[in-house]
Amino acid sequence: MQSYSLFAPAKINLHLEIIGHRPDGYHELVMIMQSVNLGDVIHLRANGKDEIRLFCQNPEVPLNNTNLAYKAAHLMQQQFPKLAQNFGGFDIVIEKNIPVAAGLAGGSTNAAAVLVGINLMWSLGLTQPELRDLGALLGSDVPFCISGGTAIATGRGEQIEPLPDLSDIWVILAKYSNLSVSTPWAYNSYREQFNHLYISDSQGINQRTHQVHSGDLVKAISQRNSEQIGALLYNDLEKVVLPEFTTVKALIDAFNAENVLGSMMSGSGPTVFALCDNQNQAEAIANKVQKTINDSNLHCWVAQMCTHGIIKQS
Ligand code: C5P
Repeated sequence: MQSYSLFAPAKINLHLEIIGHRPDGYHELVMIMQSVNLGDVIHLRANGKDEIRLFCQNPEVPLNNTNLAYKAAHLMQQQFPKLAQNFGGFDIVIEKNIPVAAGLAGGSTNAAAVLVGINLMWSLGLTQPELRDLGALLGSDVPFCISGGTAIATGRGEQIEPLPDLSDIWVILAKYSNLSVSTPWAYNSYREQFNHLYISDSQGINQRTHQVHSGDLVKAISQRNSEQIGALLYNDLEKVVLPEFTTVKALIDAFNAENVLGSMMSGSGPTVFALCDNQNQAEAIANKVQKTINDSNLHCWVAQMCTHGIIKQS
């Protein structure tokens, strides 16, 4: 049986809006998601044993059944018990390049890669929508990570509709290695402070979703108008995370003081991204901000928006 290597891109949110409660305890969201070509590589092979084994060079990554990549492999074994019995478990090597617990869907994209990889390895022929449905059982961001590119995500974040591709915009990603934000904490804090603004009826939720669909950011994306895209970045979770993490706010301000198209926190943070029109400019601004802030915990990466989710490496 073959082994597979898959490239698993990180994501950023160009728009993250919390519109209401959901009966399942999650939040009703409208997000515009974007893949970037900073990614992990997942090597998957059948180990002929009755176990799933994880390997990763980064000690921050758990190598047990709490890891979403493990859960993805286990889910496939449960869904296809005969194949699991015939072919046994998997060795999954995670080459970690995406910062961990960063708001970049690092764990979700690893899980997405495992689903796509096992689909190939076992010749299951599952379609992207079928893989996304399985991904939704693992986490809200997994379905987007499977297909990637530029997309609008609604519901819990698991309902994906593609938008016109963006690929010529460059992205600086910046994160303090000594900071992490708990996603449940961010959403719970938002609920505590802002639930009086939640839309509670399904008609109102649909209406707001449609407004984003036909709104200015989607228009700017269709026109590939990078200046407008930079000006229209939006993330509700900044309202609760930035007051608590003032260095993250200062980082956004530092990027905005430069000639970037726009800067914002990704997901529940604490990663900050800044958009630029070209690679040279992105690298120069990343260096300058790193020098100005002069904190050895601050790490920057320069990446490019990309048009795909999980892809097989040749
Ligand atoms: O779906 P996932 O496990 O990635 O979500 C992580 C956490 O983010 C959830 O436990 C919940 O606190 C919060 N969340 C939410 N509403 C969503 C997605 C995530 O409240 N739509």
